[in-house]
Amino acid sequence: MYKPDHVICNNEKFDLYISKSQLDERIAELGRQIDEDYEGKRPILIGILNGAYIFLADLMRHLSISCEVDFIKLSSYGDEKVSSGKVTERKELDADIESRHVILVEDIVDTGLSMSFMINKLKERHPESISVVTLLHKKVATKYDVNLDYVGFEIPNRFVLGYGMDYAQEGRNLAQIYALSDNQNA
Ligand code: IMP
Ligand code: MG
Repeated sequence: MYKPDHVICNNEKFDLYISKSQLDERIAELGRQIDEDYEGKRPILIGILNGAYIFLADLMRHLSISCEVDFIKLSSYGDEKVSSGKVTERKELDADIESRHVILVEDIVDTGLSMSFMINKLKERHPESISVVTLLHKKVATKYDVNLDYVGFEIPNRFVLGYGMDYAQEGRNLAQIYALSDNQNA
């Protein structure tokens, strides 16, 4: 596992923010909660690419209920540290979710734009239910009204990296979560 204490990514310094053991512990808890809430059901987990793939892989291995997986791909950040304010769909959902219990899996909810866009799109396909699990939530930055059913960690408005999340496509391979060093947060 790649777990440095600090890392330089695209010439900017990031410090360890959420350790691997904190992640493991919290994700196991989320898994137990979802297991309980969906007992006897067969939900389909829909991961939002690219950022959510590592979280989804770890979360799913804590579930003992029957479940399926599929992915959609969105893009909102481009190569910047702030959201572009526009969401584009890069890969559509393949699975038929009509009358299914859907669990949307996201790495981080920032403004909430991607999540509200996604929920509205999926509702058109008439699932039985939609719930949302996000590993991180930047609550103070959230402007769109989205209902988050399961949140791993509430975090302040800091740019984070690692565990699937990138900065201009780099840093997804870090096994822990890092935050931009204090003196670099504008
Ligand atoms: P939102 O639409 O503003 O909520 O942004 C959500 C998406 O932007 C997430 O799915 C992430 O892919 C990306 N994102 C938001 N904040 C960060 C961050 O701090 N680091 C890396 N990616 C982020
Ligand atoms: Mg994402």
